[in-house]
Amino acid sequence: MSYYEEVGNYYDKDAVDFEQRYWKNPVLQRIRQSFREEVKQLPFRRALEIGFGPGFDLIHFARIFPEAEVCGLDVSQEMVQLAQQKIDAHALANARVGQGSVEHITEQFPETSFDLIYVFFGALNTVEDIERAFECLSDRLEEGGRMVLTFVNKWYLQGMLIELLKGRPVQAFSRLKKVWGGYSPTEFLASRCYSPAEIGRCAERVGLKLFTHSGYSIFSPAWYYHGLNRRLPGRLRQAAWDLDRRIADGPLGGLGEYVLYDLRKKGSK
Ligand SMILES: C[S@@+](CC[C@H](N)C(=O)[O-])C[C@H]1O[C@@H](n2cnc3c(N)ncnc32)[C@H](O)[C@@H]1O
Repeated sequence: MSYYEEVGNYYDKDAVDFEQRYWKNPVLQRIRQSFREEVKQLPFRRALEIGFGPGFDLIHFARIFPEAEVCGLDVSQEMVQLAQQKIDAHALANARVGQGSVEHITEQFPETSFDLIYVFFGALNTVEDIERAFECLSDRLEEGGRMVLTFVNKWYLQGMLIELLKGRPVQAFSRLKKVWGGYSPTEFLASRCYSPAEIGRCAERVGLKLFTHSGYSIFSPAWYYHGLNRRLPGRLRQAAWDLDRRIADGPLGGLGEYVLYDLRKKGSK
């Protein structure tokens, strides 16, 4: 079985209750809102989303920007079906989805270029070769185009400390290994975590300028620390979120659980 068949199968199974789990998780919902705000600041005519899952953001952007076109590529057949059902239900003529990985953009959208490419919640942590993925993305990005890419981060400091305090050194350092097994304790997903320096190098190689990187869950607990998030008083949770947003673009941002990268193709103002 090829690597992408394995990733696709993993997410086919994950698709069953993906949306239900998401709607029970306020941390993920808040982070998504913040990712969306980053995209909304950018003017675009034709956007591409890699790894759209059940289509939360693809549908959202296609609905609020009816004059723009929003295309999407996802490696999981089940996710493609979920998104297509929503496109049909909302009769969105400006949204198109296809099945495949980053390397298949040309097959799915021949002769199409994009002025915005975005990835929310880590689809690029599951590519075979991150340098090749950047080449493919940059190839289809127009001069002056922008990319908003989010990655599961390698150096998630708070997570390391929490896992060490729990006496779980293997989990504490699992993101530093060549292959990370993904979030699930029971289902293995061959994936890789990257540092801001590694992403910066990939971007530079293909002529992309890294303008900012912005960390999430630096001090506020990551989305999967359910117990901790429940026990923290609301005011403290809010204070941690506010502090995170203030320091997100500085050096501590590179120690968050997720990192959002704002990249521009050279030639942009
Ligand atoms: C964690 S989910 C996130 C889904 C969605 N972006 C969201 O924010 O809810 C990752 C998604 O990316 C897709 N994916 C993973 N690796 C991919 C790849 N190499 N190319 C395209 N899609 C990929 C998965 O099938 C899944 O739908």
